[in-house]
Amino acid sequence: MKILVTGGAGFIGSHFVKRVLRGGHEVAVLDKLTYSGNRANLADDVEFHHGDIAEPADVARAAAGCDAIVNFAAETHVDRSILSAEDFGRAEFRGTQVLLEHLRRSGIRLVQVSTDEVYGDLEAGGSSKETDALNPSSPYSAAKSSGDLLVHAYARTFDVNASVTRGSNTYGPNQYPEKFIPLFATNALDGQPLPLYGDGKQIRDWLFVEDHCAGIEVVLHAGAPGGIYNVGGGDEHENIDVAERIIELAGADRSLLRSVPDRPGHDRRYSLETSKLRGLGWAPQTPFEDGLRETVDWYRDNRAWWEPIKSGAYREYYEQQYGSRLADSTAV
Ligand code: DAU
Repeated sequence: MKILVTGGAGFIGSHFVKRVLRGGHEVAVLDKLTYSGNRANLADDVEFHHGDIAEPADVARAAAGCDAIVNFAAETHVDRSILSAEDFGRAEFRGTQVLLEHLRRSGIRLVQVSTDEVYGDLEAGGSSKETDALNPSSPYSAAKSSGDLLVHAYARTFDVNASVTRGSNTYGPNQYPEKFIPLFATNALDGQPLPLYGDGKQIRDWLFVEDHCAGIEVVLHAGAPGGIYNVGGGDEHENIDVAERIIELAGADRSLLRSVPDRPGHDRRYSLETSKLRGLGWAPQTPFEDGLRETVDWYRDNRAWWEPIKSGAYREYYEQQYGSRLADSTAV
């Protein structure tokens, strides 16, 4: 099988590329190389197309000869969508629509990589099922929901061969250090403050990146057209507990932990019900403690990967996102 991996230079996409190459598939990558895409995440000999999923000509060029598309291309950071939501609509809605139009013409398969955030807050308990209503809280999750709805509509109206995966919070090596775990790991390794939003008692369902990629691959090969599949780690932890464990693993001082003003609209808890994907033979293999240790070790050993990222435009974002928050911070 030849697979076009869109967003394949990003965090989860680049792990997926390595996985399917190991499995003997052919791969092409289409990536816009925005701030979080990194050509260095891929081997030099990977077939690489620099371009945008929202541009039909870029998709047609990259998808030539491919049997399937797995779409990781997206703007992914909730905090950036709160600062400015413009780019999210183009990537998530327009980009997904261009891919679906390509499916109508070519008849190839699509796996749309989505997120548990489309279900919204689960503070009251329980776990989200694929049949639950969408209830997004942030501009990011609203934009992702629009992609899911387009896939649903095109599958029903045009009978395109597309499935959706909804993954929980994913972590591991090569994740851009704006997300909670790589931000806290790199700051802890550098002796910088760790900005914990609000009371830190929000709960996320953590999934190691290799387990997430394994779930997506199962859906690629065995998922039903029009089907939706939750991919959740089942490892639910409060942010404050994760932060304290990162501090221990990095050998940092607990006084670095600072409570800062909360994210607007912050969802308290996510949790996924995953029996549908487990029914296709998938199960997560990496306990959170093992995956977290491997991740912090990777950031300790790969400063050459992340130190250049945490300069230039990243500093501007960091100042905008955390400057006044850290000035107003309190001890935890
Ligand atoms: O649930 C899947 C989603 O997980 C993905 O769809 C998103 O692309 C991904 O960004 C992630 O969304 P979250 O908003 O849950 O991830 P984030 O790493 O931004 O935050 C995780 C938790 O940590 C959340 O409760 C907010 C908190 N947090 C985050 C940052 C960046 C902090 O307390 N301080 C921080 O500086």
